[in-house]
Amino acid sequence: MQSFWQSLPKPFFVLAPMEEVTDTVFRRIISSCGRPDVMVTEFTSVEGLASEIGRSKVIHRLQYTPEEQPLVAQIWGITPEHYYQAGVYAREQGFAGLDINMGCPVKKVIKQGACSALIKNPQLASDIIQAAKEGAGDIPVSVKTRIGFSEIQTEEWIGHLLQSHLDALTIHGRTVKELSDYPAHWDEIGKAVNLRDKINPHTLIIGNGDILSYQQGLDIATQYGVDGIMIGRGVFHNPWIFNPNIDHNTLSIEIKVQKLIEHIQLFDQTWGQEKNFAVMKKCFKMYLNNFPGASDIRSKLMQCNTAEECIKILRIIIDKI
Ligand SMILES: Cc1cc2nc3c(=O)[nH]c(=O)nc-3n(C[C@H](O)[C@H](O)[C@H](O)COP(=O)(O)O)c2cc1C
Repeated sequence: MQSFWQSLPKPFFVLAPMEEVTDTVFRRIISSCGRPDVMVTEFTSVEGLASEIGRSKVIHRLQYTPEEQPLVAQIWGITPEHYYQAGVYAREQGFAGLDINMGCPVKKVIKQGACSALIKNPQLASDIIQAAKEGAGDIPVSVKTRIGFSEIQTEEWIGHLLQSHLDALTIHGRTVKELSDYPAHWDEIGKAVNLRDKINPHTLIIGNGDILSYQQGLDIATQYGVDGIMIGRGVFHNPWIFNPNIDHNTLSIEIKVQKLIEHIQLFDQTWGQEKNFAVMKKCFKMYLNNFPGASDIRSKLMQCNTAEECIKILRIIIDKI
């Protein structure tokens, strides 16, 4: 059966998974500004999913609504059996795909041997992919990774992953050691495309790193031959980034403030007390920027503790416009 990845336009655009950011609320709000072709959940521990108590703690990460499809569940962990179970679960829950995180550089996960630590353990990486595929059945399995651990190892590591017949492979063009502190090596992503052409032409390559506009995404996709572009932090600069018809620099203050109100309301309706309102505060700057007085409004909002307080302030601002 052809996977949904194969039916996407080229190049397609993907909203990157971002922990404590790209939850169901964020994904729906971004889609309402400009729809990415694919979205991915925050990374979710397969070890957590494997027990009843653990599952209750992590399940909010996989909450979604049908309008977010095609939605890919991203998972991480070290136990192949748990990947198998997560694959079964993702299929039963109706996700369009399953993505394995082999790129997170956070020390806590590396210590466990998970995520980017798998770059140093290619045999376990292969076992994990195999187990996830068996569990996922007919839903496609992809991997998101970096180009090496301490040094660039594109040929060795990406070449290894390509032998697992993945449906898609997202390459964040930095080593683990580089975190996000250096410019992404797009030339290495280009090398990975050439490797793919030789080793496994079926696997789609998604390039990731430092894309700040839709047009830049189109240009870089042409330059390096990737099938798709993944954008993460670019949405913080411009929530309308996936909409080629909107130049966010020309949007009125009213539209930006209205969108923030919508975001806060959806956050409140969806999560209520379940999530700390501080999580929402990370998003204020996305809308309140590039206009006189924006930083003063942000300071006032940062002092609020509830959605209601914030919305009251924002409505007064709209009334004054
Ligand atoms: C706040 C934050 C959380 C992130 N969480 C995840 C995650 O859960 N899974 C993942 O694969 N990558 C995660 N990433 C990495 C991004 O998906 C992406 O690879 C990285 O930000 C580089 O792309 P960009 O330059 O477009 O932001 C996260 C990044 C940020 C900034």
